[in-house]
Amino acid sequence: MSHILAIDQGTTSSRAIIFDADMRVVAVAQEEFAQHFPASGWVEHDPADIWATVAGTCRAVIERAGIGAGDIAAIGITNQRETTLVWDRETGTPIHNAIVWQDRRTADMCRELKEAGHEAMIAGRTGLLLDPYFSGTKLRWLLDTVEGAQEQARAGRLLFGTVDSYLIWKLTGGRVHATDATNAARTLLYDIREGRWSEEICTLLDVPMEMLPEVRDCADDFGLTRADLFGREIPILGVAGDQQAATVGQACFAPGMMKSTYGTGCFALLNTGEVPVQSQNRLLTTIAYQLEGKPTYALEGSIFIAGAVVQWLRDGLRMIRAASETQPLAEKADPGQNVILVPAFTGLGAPYWQPECRGAIFGLTRNTGPAEFARAALESVGFQTRDLLEAMQADWMSESGRGDVATLRVDGGMSASDWAMQFLSDIIGAPVDRPEGVETTALGAAWLAGMRAGLYPSMEEFARGWALERQFAPGMDDATRATRYAAWTRAVQAVMQVQAPG
Ligand code: G3P
Repeated sequence: MSHILAIDQGTTSSRAIIFDADMRVVAVAQEEFAQHFPASGWVEHDPADIWATVAGTCRAVIERAGIGAGDIAAIGITNQRETTLVWDRETGTPIHNAIVWQDRRTADMCRELKEAGHEAMIAGRTGLLLDPYFSGTKLRWLLDTVEGAQEQARAGRLLFGTVDSYLIWKLTGGRVHATDATNAARTLLYDIREGRWSEEICTLLDVPMEMLPEVRDCADDFGLTRADLFGREIPILGVAGDQQAATVGQACFAPGMMKSTYGTGCFALLNTGEVPVQSQNRLLTTIAYQLEGKPTYALEGSIFIAGAVVQWLRDGLRMIRAASETQPLAEKADPGQNVILVPAFTGLGAPYWQPECRGAIFGLTRNTGPAEFARAALESVGFQTRDLLEAMQADWMSESGRGDVATLRVDGGMSASDWAMQFLSDIIGAPVDRPEGVETTALGAAWLAGMRAGLYPSMEEFARGWALERQFAPGMDDATRATRYAAWTRAVQAVMQVQAPG
């Protein structure tokens, strides 16, 4: 048994990846599934689609790898975080579609809770803020909206879970209702310091605690898959939210190390070690990973629109036919035009947290065309990352006395763009390291499971194996950097003034 199966259940697709005994990718299978937008700002997934694409890609990848289920030592799961599901304990039937992390339907509920003065207590316990992003208010909405749900939950008939819990439940045939500490840390219900569900918050949100999953380590025993699924029972030994799995896959194991993943959104995590740093700059405090009962904490900056801005150029504006056209187009942009795009399509995430704010574009002239839009789109990702870094440096400086975040390791689809990564390095004024292996999220989940199975090496050896593909060094002069970033900051302030309520 010399292989590991990693399941990466993401926002727009499910992927299954087979790694060999040397942690090399042997085969990949991927399947997209439908996104449902029942109202403005609402995003749902059909749980049946999540499950069908996971089961389908797992079977496909085993076949593609030319191995049998008997060759798989363990399964590691990584997943889109915060997305909220509730299902029936007896039948396994979900009571509603999954409410996706991007969904803004509980913005009013969050505002009311904030106005009632609950944010400080919630932030103190969970490390999170009162934003619709997290699971807690989504769960409250489900219990309020689906007929009879609150009573059934109180009677112990309903179970809550993020996508990892749901998959564990389905894979084990309903034998295990569990999650890991990183996913629990995104629910708004978990006390990240005490390492348990917060009774105080569950009471405030009227969430029956019977419906919550058991919280385990990231490398732990999550049960055996149903024998009929793959022809044999396979142990599930690793679980982590996708951004945390990428942190692990990027071997950011030392305090001060940081990674930034460019997918639909962008999520930067800074390892802060054993200390849960409470941000003074509206970042999130979260669990990077938990091993042998010991959590390692991180500061997280979450941007909702990164790669999605390129999708908008393609599908919304139809300025490009494929994402790969963005970079050559941006290279042709007129250097004399300073077009700034603030892609607050679904509000602004960290460090602004303005769910109702919407996007804007500045600096248009008669000569502005697709090239300037493409450059502004790619630059917006760099500018937003700098916003996060500014906040992280400040928090990290006051906590550790060290201001400099040593390196920024990047991954995810957009990290493949040399132009975007060079601009990122220019605008943050620091080196950007891109690793050789691009499957960092899946690798993180695979390593957790493989390490627990005794197949993969220790953390130290795994970290030594991290290999640099290319380092981008800052080439912009200080004055230009300062002027360009000041213009971005003014653009964001203008957007918040014009677009945010009140
Ligand atoms: O917090 C949301 C994040 O986990 C989603 O990641 O890669 O599925 O867009 P992704």
